[in-house]
Amino acid sequence: MKLFNFHQYYLFNFFTHILIFGFGLLTGIILTFYLNKTFYLNFQLQPFLLPSFGLKQQFSPPYIPILSTNINVSISNNNTKVSTMSNHKRVTRKGLSDFLKPPMSAMHDMSDDELLWRASIVPKIQQTPFKHTPKVAFMFLTKGPVLLAPLWERFFKGNKGLYTIYVHSQPSFNGTVPRSSIFHGRRIPSKEVRWGENSMIEAERRLLANALLDFSNQRFVLLSESCIPLFNFSTIYTYLMNSTKTFVEAYDLLGMVGRGRYSPKMLPQVKLSQWRKGSQWFQIDRELAVEIVSDKLYYMVFKKYCNPDCYSDEHYLPTLVSIKFWKRNSNRTLTWVDWSRGGPHPSRYIRTDVTIDFLKYLRNGTTCEYNGHNTNICHLFARKFTTHALDRLMRFGPKIMQFN
Ligand SMILES: *[C@@H]1O[C@H](CO)[C@@H](O)[C@H](O)[C@H]1NC(C)=O
Ligand SMILES: *[C@@H]1O[C@H](CO)[C@@H](O)[C@H](O)[C@H]1NC(C)=O
Ligand SMILES: *[C@@H]1O[C@H](CO)[C@@H](O)[C@H](O)[C@H]1NC(C)=O
Ligand SMILES: *[C@@H]1O[C@H](CO)[C@@H](O)[C@H](O)[C@H]1NC(C)=O
Ligand SMILES: *[C@@H]1O[C@H](CO)[C@@H](O)[C@H](O)[C@H]1NC(C)=O
Ligand SMILES: *[C@@H]1O[C@H](CO)[C@@H](O)[C@H](O)[C@H]1NC(C)=O
Ligand SMILES: *[C@@H]1O[C@H](CO)[C@@H](O)[C@H](O)[C@H]1NC(C)=O
Repeated sequence: MKLFNFHQYYLFNFFTHILIFGFGLLTGIILTFYLNKTFYLNFQLQPFLLPSFGLKQQFSPPYIPILSTNINVSISNNNTKVSTMSNHKRVTRKGLSDFLKPPMSAMHDMSDDELLWRASIVPKIQQTPFKHTPKVAFMFLTKGPVLLAPLWERFFKGNKGLYTIYVHSQPSFNGTVPRSSIFHGRRIPSKEVRWGENSMIEAERRLLANALLDFSNQRFVLLSESCIPLFNFSTIYTYLMNSTKTFVEAYDLLGMVGRGRYSPKMLPQVKLSQWRKGSQWFQIDRELAVEIVSDKLYYMVFKKYCNPDCYSDEHYLPTLVSIKFWKRNSNRTLTWVDWSRGGPHPSRYIRTDVTIDFLKYLRNGTTCEYNGHNTNICHLFARKFTTHALDRLMRFGPKIMQFN
């Protein structure tokens, strides 16, 4: 049965070892190569999740930072030169700057699911180890262009670094925005929106999610193409930033256009007594914005049981906020609108409606509560103004509103 003699056995053994060694070496080389690639790929795909990857310098090709014009994050550990332990090469400290920089353009190719997931990420450590200037996200939900853009351009002038703009317009809109405009490159990936339908809520959530990608955005304002500001930037900025409350209008209305739109199929998540109505034009903070993009439970209930004649955009947020986040909500909106003429649409303002007295009235026509005190400033925005009103708004507006 002995097939090999002693000598042959040794030779066989020797070659087997060589073979195993060679195989191991080959596997090692392939694995190293493969891992390098994977590592590099991972890093490319998720720069947001793995910001302080120590191996970046080793694996990434020449790194081209994306320059942003509207963020100013100054790292507290300032940009002093630090020397690395290994080779004493001097490198400039980057810290979190790449991680915190929002993309220059609002466009991306994330799906809605990917976007909402990413927007729902919240740091568990509350205190930031860097200084940043909080910004207001102005989110325009439009059909086509931002009709009153010239007025908004005047409004934003001189306040760079304190705001970010996002525009959600119908996908069919193919107009262009001049490079010099503050609206240039601010259009987000958009989908078809139908008035009064669920797609309106989807668009609102899409706007919020896009705005949440920028950590500096701390307040979120939803506007339409026919909205105008009623005060100058600094007044609006301070009002929003200092507020202890969020502004989602919510009220309980008896009758067909209120409780009449409720469906018992929404039980047990939504009871009739919890059903609320309100304007879709909100002003909220980051905490509530994250909750809204993260909500699946109520969103699904509304998607299933609040269809066309229900007008989910007038009920979803008021109801959700009143059930879960009412403690910090003021139940009012800062966007003035006139429903006095009746019908399903509010009054529109044309050229002749715009007078100095009318604008003054909008700025100071009511009283309300703000941070526990009464105030005359109850509305910061107003709708609905047509393009025909633009030339008069441009003439009186900046002076009455004390634009700088
Ligand atoms: C940067 O940090 C160094 C040392 O920590 C400090 O001496 C210097 O004053 C700082 N510079 C600024 C501009 O904060
Ligand atoms: C950013 O900060 C630098 C210095 O800290 C300042 O010179 C610059 O004007 C700031 N930019 C903006 C947009 O605020
Ligand atoms: C833009 O859309 C309109 C119709 O909505 C069409 O007539 C026009 O040709 C389009 N323009 C471009 C440049 O695609
Ligand atoms: C907002 O808060 C700041 C700092 O707390 C304060 O200086 C400022 O007066 C407040 N503004 C208003 C309008 O309450
Ligand atoms: C807002 O509405 C909720 C629920 O309807 C209520 O509990 C809360 O007290 C209201 N808040 C204010 C400030 O009126
Ligand atoms: C607002 O209106 C009230 C009374 O209508 C008036 O006393 C007050 O001076 C007005 N405030 C401003 C800033 O115009
Ligand atoms: C903004 O308007 C307020 C009055 O509403 C005024 O006191 C303030 O000076 C204005 N700010 C600027 C920067 O013009």
